Amino acid sequence: MIGRTTILLEMSPLFFWQWGGLPRQSVKNLFFLLFRSSTCLHGVGKLALRQTVTFFNIANGSCLPYHLRILIPGKMDSMSTLIKTLLSCCILSTSTGFALAQEQVVNLYSARHYSTDEALYSGFTKATGIKINRVDADDAGILARLKAEGSASPADVILLVDAARLYKGETDGLFQPIQSKVLNEAIPAHLRSAASSNGGISWFGLSTRARVIVYNKIKVQKDDVDTYEELGDPKNKGKLCIRSGSHPYNLSLFGAITEHMGEEKAEAWLKGVVDNLARSPKGGDTDQIKAVASGECDIAVTNSYYLARMMRSTKPEDMAVVNKVGVVFPNQQSWGTHMNIAGGAVARHAKNPANAVRFLEYLASAEAQNYFANGNNEWPTAKGVNADNPALKAMTGNAPFKSETIPISAVGANVTKVQQMLDRVGFK
Ligand SMILES: [Fe+2]
Repeated sequence: MIGRTTILLEMSPLFFWQWGGLPRQSVKNLFFLLFRSSTCLHGVGKLALRQTVTFFNIANGSCLPYHLRILIPGKMDSMSTLIKTLLSCCILSTSTGFALAQEQVVNLYSARHYSTDEALYSGFTKATGIKINRVDADDAGILARLKAEGSASPADVILLVDAARLYKGETDGLFQPIQSKVLNEAIPAHLRSAASSNGGISWFGLSTRARVIVYNKIKVQKDDVDTYEELGDPKNKGKLCIRSGSHPYNLSLFGAITEHMGEEKAEAWLKGVVDNLARSPKGGDTDQIKAVASGECDIAVTNSYYLARMMRSTKPEDMAVVNKVGVVFPNQQSWGTHMNIAGGAVARHAKNPANAVRFLEYLASAEAQNYFANGNNEWPTAKGVNADNPALKAMTGNAPFKSETIPISAVGANVTKVQQMLDRVGFK
């Protein structure tokens, strides 16, 4: 089997570079290699193939000019050939290098992918000149990828859509706490991580979504479902549909309820919820709303934006579903409705940390908050910014509602306990 040596060159605007598996002198000649364009990379690729040298982009598998991994089979003497090849192929010019050094980028790993976010990103580039390179994946995929990439990760900013996952990213050491007066002033303290030992904040909530209860308007009285506690009350036996207990949205809800009730009462409540199920947990939140409309169950739990999405839909089948269901924002007389967040963080190994902070600060601005929240029918988190969303207004009767105010970081901290409780009560 052919042995392989890996060199990793990271061509950031500052030409940060590192390597692995080779003696320092074998790669020092590469230090000033400047890879200016994708055309150049393409050329390298062709030559590389002939020499059984391959590269791939560690950012997203496509051709970003700044990240290049070279796998060299066997002996070191192939290095000199490689260097000559690269030198002849790539442009070695101080002036072009300087031009490249001026290009500002921020590499974004995002679990949000809504069409309105495009306007958000182009607004940032227009205002700052900083180009955004985006990789889309879900929360779990992004966290796994950051772990696998380690210090070689090109990620600068991370956007996730669940508090427990943000907490996990923090405790797994994937983020770097930041000091930003702008963010600290804009985002309420209970919607961001707890401060680290140096006073930095690991992540900030940028929009909120309520975990609400929908019910069959004909069969169920609103009063019987206007608290989370009643989801576990025997009076609702056999009526409830909910997605998997271990889905992050439910883990966060149950984490919040554990914080409000205490562990013992929360577990007894979870047992009651399992006893009330109309069917085994399956599907996403939209499926639960549809199951209420179809009569498979009478009560369901969903994130508010899934219902808002259906309320804004012009499809007759969605409109028919919406007409059959009522919605309540639970616990208005006690601790308030559970709110989850979509939020952002700076990656632990960010190569462009200043740009990353600037991007998060932009997302907390009034202009960006409207796009960010409305794009997914959510509420903005920044102080003084109000949602202007017809579906959300209709859902709340255009009146303010009471949201819980526990620190959202406590929700993530309870998740391990919650998972153990779910196992004990048999909540799949
Ligand atoms: Fe979702």
